[in-house]
Amino acid sequence: MCGIVGYVGPRDCTDVLISALAKLEYRGYDSAGIAVFENGKIEVAKSKGRLSDLVEKMEKEGKPQGHAGIGHTRWATHGEPSDINSHPHSGRRVTIVHNGIIENYKQIKQFLIDNERTEFLSDTDTEVVAQLLDFYYNGDPIRAIRRTLHEVRGSFALGIVFADRPETIYAVRRESPLIVGQGKGEAFIASDVPAILKYTKDYYLLEHNEIVILKNGSASFCTMHGRVIDKELKTADWDEDSAEKGGYPHFMIKEIHEQPTAVKMTVTPRIEDGLPDLSECGITPETLKDINNVFIVACGTAMHAGMVGKYVIEKLARVSVTVDIASEFRYRNPLIGKGDLVIIISQSGETADSKAVLRLVKETEAKTLAIVNVKGSSIAREADMVIYTHAGPEIAVASTKAYMVQLAVMYLFAFELAYAKGRIDEAKCRDLTDQLIKMPAIIEKTVNSVVDDCQYISTKLISTSSLLYIGRGLDYALSMEGSLKLKEISYIHSESYAAGELKHGTISLITEGMPVIAVATQNTLLEKTISNIEEVKARGAMTVVICDEEADIGEEAADYLIRIPKIAEMLMPMVATVPMQLLAYYTSVNKGNDVDRPRNLAKSVTVE
Ligand code: AGP
Repeated sequence: MCGIVGYVGPRDCTDVLISALAKLEYRGYDSAGIAVFENGKIEVAKSKGRLSDLVEKMEKEGKPQGHAGIGHTRWATHGEPSDINSHPHSGRRVTIVHNGIIENYKQIKQFLIDNERTEFLSDTDTEVVAQLLDFYYNGDPIRAIRRTLHEVRGSFALGIVFADRPETIYAVRRESPLIVGQGKGEAFIASDVPAILKYTKDYYLLEHNEIVILKNGSASFCTMHGRVIDKELKTADWDEDSAEKGGYPHFMIKEIHEQPTAVKMTVTPRIEDGLPDLSECGITPETLKDINNVFIVACGTAMHAGMVGKYVIEKLARVSVTVDIASEFRYRNPLIGKGDLVIIISQSGETADSKAVLRLVKETEAKTLAIVNVKGSSIAREADMVIYTHAGPEIAVASTKAYMVQLAVMYLFAFELAYAKGRIDEAKCRDLTDQLIKMPAIIEKTVNSVVDDCQYISTKLISTSSLLYIGRGLDYALSMEGSLKLKEISYIHSESYAAGELKHGTISLITEGMPVIAVATQNTLLEKTISNIEEVKARGAMTVVICDEEADIGEEAADYLIRIPKIAEMLMPMVATVPMQLLAYYTSVNKGNDVDRPRNLAKSVTVE
């Protein structure tokens, strides 16, 4: 998704904007641009392509020199990626960068045309906002912003400069994220905290419809009506290093290795005297006792974490759990109300469909619980209760450590719910919690023990155009994530199937050499899964089986066996995930793909 930055201070503004935008590359983008006050005039430089293309262009055509400006990485929604459609966009006296979508831009454009404003250069919704701001601008920036905000519908964060207000930046947000960094004698705006960490750890959160003004190196805030607001300065607990690759060739592999720490950071603070304690997140045994049904709603990987949660919660707490894709749930008029708990899982906390579901549920009597990684994100702030996962910044588009900590929270929640409802006794709850506490060491051991196998097996996958993941029960839930991970970064078509379903149609796809990866960690279902493996093998499939080190599977049962540590069956997803992540990672590396920034994907999907 688009990224916004802005800077006012003594440094070379263009350098700051480019380095801050580089930290937002993980969001996905197809063009970039900046606008800088140079000797009191706004100079714009923009280009389709990567930030390096913009830098190259500026080297040839001249780099804006100044101390205040705004910058943008664009992920095209309205209009193809092109130099013209890249931000910033300008009206006569106003230049802006924008993240989000203006839903009624066509009506606004018509309004402007009817009022003799016809100078549109691009296909973007953003340019319409620049023109509208300009239309309302009579020398009072706050008035122009207020009048514009009254007209526009949709989600947006805007960085704005007015030609006759040199060295000053205005910004405002509705729905889309925006933070304000405060350094010594310098101030920033950015779509996300990592963009400013090189310069400062201190930042403010901008709320809906609040306006920030960056001037003389500091930030001041006001409402749309110009009323001054005092805001609390926050300090980021992520340092710049944790947002960097730390010696690994890609963020994805770094993040795979960070999983033990992430799980530890997420689980440890939620254990009190050997039992799960989520009271700090607003969840008490009393609130849990009243829950009749659980709905888990999310997108992509986060939804897959919910699938594992369903099996675990239903098994332990005997509470019915429905898992839904957010973009489906919001349009199917769901039956929810008093006694229901709707859990929204989201790494970014800004995913448009998940956010929309949260708002829809908040209009009912159901309670909402957010499981979110990014602090202060919209979903985290708007839910009744929030459990933060402590994975730190996840930069690779393919989610790994965020999924792992989402699983950890699913377990913590399931244990506490089952105990609160009296479905498991204290001893059982202690035992399960103890096993969860031991997971970081086991995950670390797994990464080290399977890495070579995965690297080798991936060389056997690179030439296929299609493969299948299969599993039963929890293994099926898990294989969905394995399949998504592989397809999103290797570009190999991959599907996950409940192993028992193969015979009902899908087995006809099996041809000589087609890879089938079976996840077989649930010993109670092992014999049945082995039969399914034999069936596909007999039809020529190349088989890979992920099973525990003691599983009764002979070496001849599959072409490749990946043995992982044996732990309690219910917790196996946290271990079995690791080889699936590594298979996806090395397949992508071996194919020479852009592992961290797969084509067509964005880290944070803030539009529908
Ligand atoms: C993860 O590998 C994916 N790229 C994607 O499915 C992601 O999990 C999904 O977009 C949801 O994002 P969120 O967790 O930030 O809501």
